[in-house]
Amino acid sequence: MENITDARALEKTILVCQNRTCLKDGSAQVLAALESYDLPEVTVLASGCLGQCGSGPMVLVMPEQIWYSRVRSSEVPILVQEHLTGNKPVQAMMYPKFHPKPKRFGLF
Ligand code: FES
Repeated sequence: MENITDARALEKTILVCQNRTCLKDGSAQVLAALESYDLPEVTVLASGCLGQCGSGPMVLVMPEQIWYSRVRSSEVPILVQEHLTGNKPVQAMMYPKFHPKPKRFGLF
């Protein structure tokens, strides 16, 4: 059994789909942008199809299971700064199918 204080428990793995549909939408540039950062507790991996073709480029951050859709390479700096470094997922970039925006209740 691993110790919870093991440094690996703090690591993130970020999967960037490199399958056909996401590649067509620019996922190679997203992967390259992520790989350009030296993030000691983050492993960046090219992945096969993540099963969400047509909403890509798809990016999945583990272990939190935060999905980002239609990611642009120009958005990678905010993803790195806010989520990968700051541990605050970027709500505006999340995949709405898996992270629906909260419904607003009220009269207005
Ligand atoms: S090709 Fe990227 S999710 Fe299927």
